[in-house]
Amino acid sequence: MTDHPSATTLAALAAHRREFAGHTLSSLFDADATRFDALSFAFDGWCVDISKERLTARTLALLAAHAEALGLPAWREALFAGERVNMSEQRPALHTALRATAEASIVVDGADVMPGVRAARSRVAALARAIRAGERIGATGTPIRDVVNLGIGGSDLGPRLVCDALGGPDGSAARVHFVSNVDPAHLARTLAPLAPASTLFIVTSKSFNTQETLANAATAAAWLAAALPGADVRRHFVAVTGNADAARPHVADADDLLPLPAWVGGRYSLWSAAGLPIAIALGPPAFDALLAGAASMDTHFRTAPLAANLPFVLGALGWWNTRHLGHVERVVVPYAQPLALLPQYLQQLVLESNGKQVDRTGLPVSGPTAPAWWGAAGTDAQHAFFQWLHQGTREAPVEFIVPVTATVGPASAQTLLVANALAQAQALLEGRGNRPEDRAEGADRSRACPGNRASTTLLLPRLDAGTLGQLLALYEHRTFVEAMLCGINPFDQFGVELGKALAGPVVAALADGTPLPEATDASTRGLVAAARAMRGATA
Ligand code: F6P
Repeated sequence: MTDHPSATTLAALAAHRREFAGHTLSSLFDADATRFDALSFAFDGWCVDISKERLTARTLALLAAHAEALGLPAWREALFAGERVNMSEQRPALHTALRATAEASIVVDGADVMPGVRAARSRVAALARAIRAGERIGATGTPIRDVVNLGIGGSDLGPRLVCDALGGPDGSAARVHFVSNVDPAHLARTLAPLAPASTLFIVTSKSFNTQETLANAATAAAWLAAALPGADVRRHFVAVTGNADAARPHVADADDLLPLPAWVGGRYSLWSAAGLPIAIALGPPAFDALLAGAASMDTHFRTAPLAANLPFVLGALGWWNTRHLGHVERVVVPYAQPLALLPQYLQQLVLESNGKQVDRTGLPVSGPTAPAWWGAAGTDAQHAFFQWLHQGTREAPVEFIVPVTATVGPASAQTLLVANALAQAQALLEGRGNRPEDRAEGADRSRACPGNRASTTLLLPRLDAGTLGQLLALYEHRTFVEAMLCGINPFDQFGVELGKALAGPVVAALADGTPLPEATDASTRGLVAAARAMRGATA
């Protein structure tokens, strides 16, 4: 039996990896005066620099050959064409259809999905316009002033990130809030300053079966009912869901049920009607610009040669860093306060997608899959974990995301921000106190930074709706590329089911002392008993 071609390309990568032994990042720059030019990439005014990562142009060529051998171009085409790339659940993953241009046609199970996509877009825009204009009326005739999205995971993080990143006073009559946690403090604090008569809830849940979201929706309904006796509180609810049957009793009007198609995954759903809070907060034109930005990245991913294809380059770099260089972390630092939620959003996108241990066929994967992603906005992060990045005992490659021009405030402050990002990447590369004379006996080694620590820098011309759409689509596609290189399915998430199932008996045990199942471990039993005692339970 002959080996699969990918065995050869993988062996070539392993051999190539050994060529880096004994070479520092600085020595790679010394050896090649064109390194920055060879390893920095342009896209629509962006500059993405991976020259501070431990790889060369040859590495990228070998990675492209390996991806070709694994059939990445065919997988990419299958993704866009609506084939069942989510094999375990036998579904397409068609988030790209949600931002496709008006004239596109994408057939799934013999039917074009695009008329439905376009209809949902129009309904979202119409509802958003009415709410922004103060024309949406509550059950007592009062115009809606506050909109609270109830949802969790993908039904919260994407829309919340976009609203946070681009929001601000813009003349809309309505303010948008997000409540995800079942912790009653989250909803209570959000509702405290709001007036029930002028508050609308969007229940966003693909399954309409998520305990946190349904519990918050029930609390919200009770809050409305207590304040508006006799009113039809369903007039204060809109549902965005793939389970219309379950959601229908919660809304007063069929127009207030918006679709979340089965072929879009929760963490890829912000482009769908789940983006209604975005359209309300920023206006339909900004939502359209976000979609158009994402669509431009889709076209780039689908058509650019792998050597100049940003999602491929960054996805392949991620896989190289983890599989071949052994990095178990990736640190993401947006130098933009409006992107402070980006690390959390990426944790869900990347880790729920690629935190897997079996391949598409159910066999154990042959190497590590996703590294742990974490991070926070710069410059704040510099005063927290950058000490660990510079002088800790482990290298964790960092990703700097830097919009270079300010949208508000003084340009001098933006200059300070951008300069800090670039200087931190430089410091990670160069370190300090590593010359032989610095190492002399008696030298103060506590100030030395080893340097030789990798980073990527994404310079964006600005932070606006179009650029943010491009950025988020870039992360979606590079997550897909990494999954294909690992041979895994990024579109299911069975790992989160176990905890949900086990929570049922624990809820009953905590609430009224229902005995836990026989097999429950001693620690969980002890903790349930201790929690019950703290809450004053007697039985
Ligand atoms: O955390 C698991 C998860 O299934 C996510 O993938 C999803 O975005 C989230 O729960 C919320 O699910 P739903 O939209 O069905 O309420």
